[in-house]
Amino acid sequence: MEAIARDFFLYLSKNSLLNKIAQKRGGKFAAGKIIGGIDFQSSMRFIRDLNNSGLSVTVDHLGEFVDSEEVANERTEECIQTIEMIAREKLDSQVSLKMTSLGLDIDHNLVFRNMTKILDTAEKNNIMVTIDMEDVPRCQATIDIFREFKEKYSCISTVLQAYLYRTEQDLKDLGRYHPFLRLVKGAYKESPEVAFPEKKDVDENYKKLIEQSLLNGNYTAIASHDDQIIEYTKKLVKKHNIPTTQFEFQMLYGMRSKTQSRLVKDGYKVRVYVPYGLDWYGYFMRRMAERPQNISFAFKGIFKG
Ligand code: FDA
Repeated sequence: MEAIARDFFLYLSKNSLLNKIAQKRGGKFAAGKIIGGIDFQSSMRFIRDLNNSGLSVTVDHLGEFVDSEEVANERTEECIQTIEMIAREKLDSQVSLKMTSLGLDIDHNLVFRNMTKILDTAEKNNIMVTIDMEDVPRCQATIDIFREFKEKYSCISTVLQAYLYRTEQDLKDLGRYHPFLRLVKGAYKESPEVAFPEKKDVDENYKKLIEQSLLNGNYTAIASHDDQIIEYTKKLVKKHNIPTTQFEFQMLYGMRSKTQSRLVKDGYKVRVYVPYGLDWYGYFMRRMAERPQNISFAFKGIFKG
């Protein structure tokens, strides 16, 4: 049943008509609940609140699978302005972004031009930029982009997904950079040819990757709402005397707020991923796919505007 619900929501996540309706009517519902706001300015008060509660943030301007150069350039400008505002307002926030939002599906040179502009600004302002990991057809290109920019910039990080068979090798290959890495289970619908179909195998692989990354000395973000994974990490760092300055927990805005606060109280670093923008529909449906129990929460307000 859970698998059917997951497939259903992942299918809905690509529906452009529902996306348009959500853009028009749902911004108010989503703001302050699962996204910061419809733009960075309106998200700032939520970011400040999180910072005041001891939580760090990474912001993401929603909008992926961009298919026009003009929009990709607009996303780039928006990202640059966001980095400058974070610095100006002295917010404790990093930036996350998807390569398809900068034009990965259009032209690789476009992405390189856009990323160069973003990373020049990020480096100047000392703000980390994390490249989110998208679906399998974009995985190799994303890793290649990360590697290329990592040779030149220090303020760049990326994400590896535990559900992919390839990730163990990717983690080994990236080891020489001792990168800042976010480890996640993986949010897209992938085939059993490339990804573990069983959740228990994903969880086991995730634990293996956390250990491998931490023991390689990488600064590692464990991005999961799963208590089992959080407890595993706590035991692991204790066993190997890994300092709290070498890792952090990350969770999505609006999810498990009490757990976030408890971890901060216990002395762990926690970063909250705060998405913002009008294009929140696909992001939201992927969250529903992960946790269909959120359905009642959604239908209470989503299409009421
Ligand atoms: P999972 O969905 O496996 O659930 C395990 C258990 O955790 C549940 O049974 C429940 O007990 C508990 N739980 C989970 N969610 C809960 C909730 N909301 N409330 C209460 N309990 C809950 N993916 C990707 O492919 N590319 C990316 O770049 C990113 N980036 C990213 C950043 C951050 C900060 C996070 C937290 C996640 C991502 N992801 C991602 C998404 C990730 O791949 C994954 O799909 C989700 O985090 C869901 O997996 P979990 O490990 O959180 O728990």
